[in-house]
Parts: sequence; C-alpha cells; structure tokens
Amino acid sequence: MQVSSSVRLLEQDHETILHRILAVRGLGPDPGPSLLRAVWEPFIHLERDLLPHLDEEEAVLVPILGGIADGGEAMAARIEADHRLIRQNFRALLGAREPDLGALRAAADLLGRHILWEENTVFPALAEHLPSESLAAIEGRSKEFRRRRRGSQALVTRATMDTFRDLIKNYR
Ligand SMILES: [Fe+2]
Ligand SMILES: [Fe+2]
Repeated sequence: MQVSSSVRLLEQDHETILHRILAVRGLGPDPGPSLLRAVWEPFIHLERDLLPHLDEEEAVLVPILGGIADGGEAMAARIEADHRLIRQNFRALLGAREPDLGALRAAADLLGRHILWEENTVFPALAEHLPSESLAAIEGRSKEFRRRRRGSQALVTRATMDTFRDLIKNYR
C-alpha cells in the first residue's frame, strides 16, 4: 500500500490550505485595505478546517511516528511544536481588530513550511518504515476520527493511541 492513499484525507486538507497560503503570498508589498481584507478573511477562517486537521494529525500520526526508530520521535515532537505555534498564530489573527499584513504573512509562512515538511518528509517516512497494514490503518483512523469528531475527542484520541501502540508492538 502506498502512503499517498493512507494519508489521502490529510493531503486533501493540505491542498485547500495551500490555496489560501498562495493567496497571501500573491499579495504585493502594499496591497491596500480592500485587497488585504479579501485575503485576510478567508485565511483566518481557515481555522474552522485547520484546527480539526491539526487535532487529527496529533491523534492519528503522532502516536505511530513515535514508534518509528529512525527519527520518528523527533518528527512527532516537531509536529506538536509546530502545531502549538500555528494555533497561537491563529488565535492572534482571530483576535486582531484590523487585518495585519505582517502577522498574516508570518502565519502563512509557518503553515506553508509545516505542510511542505509533512508532505516531503513525514509522509514518505511513514511509507518507508511502516508495514502495509499500519498504512492501511492510518486512513481508517482518519475516517473514524472525522466521523466521531463531534463526540468526545479525548476518547477518540485514546482509542487511536491504543490501536497504534498494538500495531507498533506487532511490527516489532
Ligand atoms: Fe501538521
Ligand atoms: Fe498537515
């Protein structure tokens, strides 16, 4: 099984997010208030889809990355650290009284770098180090996470972590 099918849902989210990032990158040095607002509003409202995406990666990917011997712990730690900063940035953007071009660019840059790193480093590492049944389980867990997200996230996270702990145990 290819990693691209196991993380298909996460990659679809990335595509949507990258479109908004490209709009920010397309702004010139002095875009003027109406153009700035036209890019600012859709970007800050990404939050509705972005925050569940971050939660899902932490529930689905982080536990299994931790079990990969070759740099997995470091990747898991970076995901959590980047996500913390991304959430902070979005809290600041949503709390701003006026669109702030500098803050918008900084948030878009961090988010863009994070997504490219996941696609170029994290997802290929999963394909390289995990057996096909673990890769298949990733997509299943993503679907389950999305289906149950409206219920108790804590329960979903705990169930996911237990499942992956078992998978990793079997793999070793
Ligand atoms: Fe992420
Ligand atoms: Fe992501």
